[in-house]
Amino acid sequence: MPATAFSHVLEPVTLGSLQLRNRVIMVPMGTEMGDHDGHLTDREVAYYAERAAGAGLVCTGINAVTDDYEVINEGLGRVDTDAAIPGLRKLAEAFHARGGAVSVQLTAGLGRNINNIDPERLPISASDNTHWLDPSVRCRPLETHEIKVIVQRFKEAAERCAQAGIDAIDIHGHTGYVIDQFLSPVWNRRTDEYGGSVENRCRFAAEIIAAVKEGAPGLPVSFRLSVDHHFEGGRTPAESVEIARQLEAAGLDLLMVDEGSYEAMDYVFPPYYLGDNCMMGSVRMFKEALSIPVLGCGNLTPERAESAIAAGEMDFAGIGRALIADPEWALKLAEGRREDIRPCIRCNQLCVGNAFVGQPLGCAVNPTVGKERERVLTPAATPKRVAIVGAGPAGLEAARVAALRGHTVDVYEKGEQLGGVLWPAATPEFKKELRSMIFWWERQLADLPVTVHLGTEIAADSPELDGADAIIVAVGTEPVAPPIPGLDGDNVVEVIDAHLGADLGHRMVVCGGGLSGADFALEMQEKGHDVTVVEMADGIAPDLLMINRITLLRDHAEAGVTLLTGHRVVEVNAAGVKVDGPDGPVQIAADTVVSAFGVRPATALVEALQARGAVAVGDCVKPAKVGDAINAGFEAAFAL
Ligand SMILES: Cc1cc2nc3c(=O)[nH]c(=O)nc-3n(C[C@H](O)[C@H](O)[C@H](O)COP(=O)(O)OP(=O)(O)OC[C@H]3O[C@@H](n4cnc5c(N)ncnc54)[C@H](O)[C@@H]3O)c2cc1C
Ligand SMILES: Cc1cc2nc3c(=O)[nH]c(=O)nc-3n(C[C@H](O)[C@H](O)[C@H](O)COP(=O)(O)O)c2cc1C
Ligand code: SF4
Repeated sequence: MPATAFSHVLEPVTLGSLQLRNRVIMVPMGTEMGDHDGHLTDREVAYYAERAAGAGLVCTGINAVTDDYEVINEGLGRVDTDAAIPGLRKLAEAFHARGGAVSVQLTAGLGRNINNIDPERLPISASDNTHWLDPSVRCRPLETHEIKVIVQRFKEAAERCAQAGIDAIDIHGHTGYVIDQFLSPVWNRRTDEYGGSVENRCRFAAEIIAAVKEGAPGLPVSFRLSVDHHFEGGRTPAESVEIARQLEAAGLDLLMVDEGSYEAMDYVFPPYYLGDNCMMGSVRMFKEALSIPVLGCGNLTPERAESAIAAGEMDFAGIGRALIADPEWALKLAEGRREDIRPCIRCNQLCVGNAFVGQPLGCAVNPTVGKERERVLTPAATPKRVAIVGAGPAGLEAARVAALRGHTVDVYEKGEQLGGVLWPAATPEFKKELRSMIFWWERQLADLPVTVHLGTEIAADSPELDGADAIIVAVGTEPVAPPIPGLDGDNVVEVIDAHLGADLGHRMVVCGGGLSGADFALEMQEKGHDVTVVEMADGIAPDLLMINRITLLRDHAEAGVTLLTGHRVVEVNAAGVKVDGPDGPVQIAADTVVSAFGVRPATALVEALQARGAVAVGDCVKPAKVGDAINAGFEAAFAL
């Protein structure tokens, strides 16, 4: 696509009085990079500032405005005292030095969603709701005077932002946090002026908008509204339109349309199963109902962003993780380099996954995230001849980084294509972003001093490595085949071969319910096969991040995959598979049996090449996820 194909996304625009260089807004994403007191660190400022050119406006993750009634969780940003101002000022200055603009997201707190329940201090909410996870804990409805205090705290926080030079303010109204608890009748059963009618339920939010405007005169104010909670009894888009109208009347400058709730957390952090543009269903409805600008987001592709803005369906493209993965998202579109945008593979592994365990944000495909100051690809002091064995994610990333640092790289791959296990792993349509990653490396390596030798199997004594100054070995894994009678039968196919086009019958039993088996089962069931997964453990894909797992299991159920957990495969025979479970042995009929028992590192070659001074990276050290392989490949090449 020529650069002009994205002319609507890239068009300069004003938001209130704020001039923005394009219509891309990086939506708020918490970083866990703040200091112990919840204030911005230089590391965090560097992470945000790196994205200044990749979007017209960059929003920070949430910041609490008060701890009057709720403990502020460690790791959460906070703007509740003047101590936040120096960090905010550094942030604003970093953006302005780069010609960018930055917005700070403010929250009234989590209420019934709070992580750590303090027995001395009941969670706050609009009404006496139960805690979202622990129904034995009842929340305390906020008193009217307490609501007024929180509104006042928003004004004070906005004043601090304005004083520091911040350009805009976003109000966190979604995900079932405190403001959302007031907006929705599912959580708001008040009988005072903050409950009942739509106008009353919106009063708290409307007062916050007014307070922010008063505290930061002239700064545009946006609001993130979950327009579809995606759970029984939660809010629907039609109800949300009424709320949006109230917010507009309160003086809002931009509505950020969003979906999900803690009850449907996969919409808050949409994994690859949800597919492209997964929250765009009702954006047009809001655009038509309002006269203020509207933003749509959620696995948004550049093409959909462009067509939606061009068609008047929305005004701003909300881009989240794609800007973590590639900080130059909009810049590359502007330069006509769409295919150079490093794809976010929507794995949630090191962004959400890290946040969930209180670790700073990272990224599966971009190892510089959170290390923007340290991991600068400067030329190596001594350029070397580098040999890389294996062209999977670890080898390809190592090749890219080594070449960018000025080394001359030869990549040896025994297969006939790049990508390693990623190639078969990416055959399901819902995993197409993994394929995009392979194309991305292909494109990056094409312009670098990298020679790829396909169909070249390296052995311990291969002469190809003789002239190398450094060897990186990234040869991946080999499948595990447990000693089960019949597993070598003609009706058995290894999961990678199954992905790569082996003949597959209608009825299938997938032996092993790890991620590879579980995803394969979903792909096949969706293609019309009748699939049963047999897993010895009590759950499917136990190592998968909780959010992704919620979606996987829902998709399994919707597609009709049969899951047989707590069962062990004891025999493969001509009629299928015999399994043993709590109720004794059972025979499951199958035309094809797929072996997905997992993998083990290809240690023999690794050890032999280590004897020649090689550094091993990726699955050949310890089988893990693609993000681990990429990050390890980066580190090895960066250390050369
Ligand atoms: C079916 C399946 C689905 C998966 N799905 C996901 C997923 O959704 N998300 C995720 O994060 N991870 C997933 N994984 C895991 C992920 O693919 C791996 O963690 C990742 O590919 C490891 O990268 P690597 O570069 O270390 O090894 P590999 O990808 O295994 O690449 C190793 C390469 O080395 C080559 N090689 C081996 N020996 C030699 C030799 N002697 N000479 C030359 N070349 C050699 C191989 O041909 C291969 O190309 C999946 C794995 C499988 C099997
Ligand atoms: C690591 C991470 C942290 C997030 N933190 C916030 C947050 O602080 N405030 C918020 O409104 N949304 C937050 N979100 C949701 C995102 O703003 C966005 O809605 C979501 O990532 C979907 O957009 P995307 O597909 O473009 O990433 C977060 C998402 C991620 C991945
Ligand atoms: S960790 Fe995965 S989901 Fe998160 S930004 Fe990186 S590629 Fe995207």
